[in-house]
Amino acid sequence: MSDARRHGSHLDARHHGSHLDARHHGSHLDAPSVIRTKRDGGILTDAAIDWVIDGYTRGLVADEQMSALLMAIFLRGMTPGEITRWTAAMVASGERFDFTDLGLPLVDKHSTGGVGDKITIPLVPVVLACGAAVPQAAGRGLGHTGGTLDKLESIAGFTPELSKTQIRQQLSEIGAAIFAAGDLAPADRKIYALRDITATTESLPLIASSVMSKKLAEGAQSLVLDVKSGRGAFLKTEAESRELAATMVALGNSYGVPTRALLTDMNRPLGYTVGNSVEVAESLEVLAGGGPADVVELTLALAAEMLDAAGVDGVDPAQTLRDGTAMDRFRRLIAAQGGDLSRPLPIGAHNETVTAAAGGVMGDIDAMAVAMAAWRLGAGRAAPGHPVQLGAGVRIHRRPGEPVAAGETLFTLYTDTPERLGAALGELDGGWSVGAAAPDLGPLVIDHLG
Ligand code: URA
Repeated sequence: MSDARRHGSHLDARHHGSHLDARHHGSHLDAPSVIRTKRDGGILTDAAIDWVIDGYTRGLVADEQMSALLMAIFLRGMTPGEITRWTAAMVASGERFDFTDLGLPLVDKHSTGGVGDKITIPLVPVVLACGAAVPQAAGRGLGHTGGTLDKLESIAGFTPELSKTQIRQQLSEIGAAIFAAGDLAPADRKIYALRDITATTESLPLIASSVMSKKLAEGAQSLVLDVKSGRGAFLKTEAESRELAATMVALGNSYGVPTRALLTDMNRPLGYTVGNSVEVAESLEVLAGGGPADVVELTLALAAEMLDAAGVDGVDPAQTLRDGTAMDRFRRLIAAQGGDLSRPLPIGAHNETVTAAAGGVMGDIDAMAVAMAAWRLGAGRAAPGHPVQLGAGVRIHRRPGEPVAAGETLFTLYTDTPERLGAALGELDGGWSVGAAAPDLGPLVIDHLG
């Protein structure tokens, strides 16, 4: 084994045979020792990382053992070398798509997880309408954050389960596909589901490797990351979010996929809706040329980055929202994946409202409070594989800084299971206020990296 390999400086474990190495030379490894090394603050060897990822993917390392290792990683962290190798092993756990022969400018974006973060839904058709192509491996809800696939499944008939042949065909015929990662980075699929229910989501190495393993395997030629920072993000401080962005940008670039990142605010929810179908409805408003200003701003900022990264110039993404071409592309994309936009979106059968006791100006709204309310209403999962309620969610009637009249409705909560309403209302308590003056919100796009 070369020095470069031993130190994990070359990323593509599979193509250099380390998977085989892990099986041949990893026979001395066992899960308790790997867990113990990390639990005690040690550094995992490349062989240990390859072995544990491969073993977990193939069912030889148990959920209980991976859960313990994830918690040890959560508490102890990982060195840059460990993150690089862990990511490479996750990429190597499955297929790596290559669509370069299609001759399309293939670009994608991924968010590190937000609240009301429906941006992929309007963004993909905008970028498509401007002439780039998007192979988008999307995820389901994780922790308190929503998932694009859960949201899109509120469109009757829509399926994200596409084969590689279907993805290739869709890319060549309409220029985009939004699909479940499937055979891409299957290790991430299993680890992602485990993190969701073991309180191990908020970890820089685990987020970086999860995002990048899917994105490096999906076949995009360049990548734009939306790295969230603030109360509703997995990593709360700007310093941690910057480090996450820098880590992922370096991972992408060293894999030969030019990668850049926007650091964006996630202190308050994006738009007026948090949930599944409610976020699709709001995305349709954006595609129809309206919608909340912050959702439009972030969609256009990310579109500009993606088009620049893909080398597409001379087009105005905002124009595609005004002239209906983005909506047209969205309809084609959804129809190609079986979705029927003529059918009504589901909405929770039961609702409850929160009203203003006094008039004034809406103060700041804590993204985490709203996320937890939506989760309690059934928009997210408490156990792996459980279905989410498509119609569960929160509608925010007044965004921070908007005028409020006494008695006015500020929030509507939707669910199919009314016994959840009390707990959801409890989560909102203390997460908002009405005051005399507009809050100071700061910029939505904080910085550009890479
Ligand atoms: N998105 C992912 O794919 N993984 C994470 O860990 C967080 C956001």
